[in-house]
Amino acid sequence: MINVKAQAYVFDAYGTLFDVHAALARHRAEAGPDAERFSEIWRTKQLEYSWTLTLAGAYLDFWTLTERALDYAFARVPSVSRALRPKLLDAYFQLDAFPDASATLVALKTRGLRLAILSNGSPQMLAAAAEASDLAASLDAVLSVDAVRVYKPRPEVYALVTDRLGIRAPEVVFVSSNRWDVMGAASFGFNAVWVNRGRMPDEYPHAQPSRVIAALAELPALGL
Ligand code: LAC
Repeated sequence: MINVKAQAYVFDAYGTLFDVHAALARHRAEAGPDAERFSEIWRTKQLEYSWTLTLAGAYLDFWTLTERALDYAFARVPSVSRALRPKLLDAYFQLDAFPDASATLVALKTRGLRLAILSNGSPQMLAAAAEASDLAASLDAVLSVDAVRVYKPRPEVYALVTDRLGIRAPEVVFVSSNRWDVMGAASFGFNAVWVNRGRMPDEYPHAQPSRVIAALAELPALGL
């Protein structure tokens, strides 16, 4: 139940504002028949490394993890030519936003809400993607885990929002398509909105989203 007026909308980046499979999609024909599997392995390993390093008390930035996960995907799926490596990394650095991302941010911004990104991404990756997709102009802050050198869903990461924006957790609407990120955000006390584009089954019943939507375009009408 939401009884505090939202002051800020904070967005996860990869998978939520930016389509992590867009890099492969740009080179779909060259990648061949295993392109989807390759892209899934790339994403899954990138996230796995963020969790395993954090559990081990270690940190490498998200760009390094993205490169290592890509190299693992090449090793697992030999049908995808390694000649694509530089092209895929370039495409990932300036990843496409989902088609409804820009208009959704503009609609929320015109209501006077503060907008931010909170992401695992390195500051350089996030700046490049936000500029390339024309989201940068709507954003008041782009917050990276790099400041605390641990990855989501550690609470120190979500605390970057309350610390940097100077607001309380219940005043934050946190938007993510990653259910495990919604778990971390809801546990921290944010009003978490799950963008469940793929109509996936629910998880983490102890940490429920405030709302579930199928596309970013549904956000402004939620009245949060
Ligand atoms: C991020 C990860 C979840 O952008 O992709 O934080």
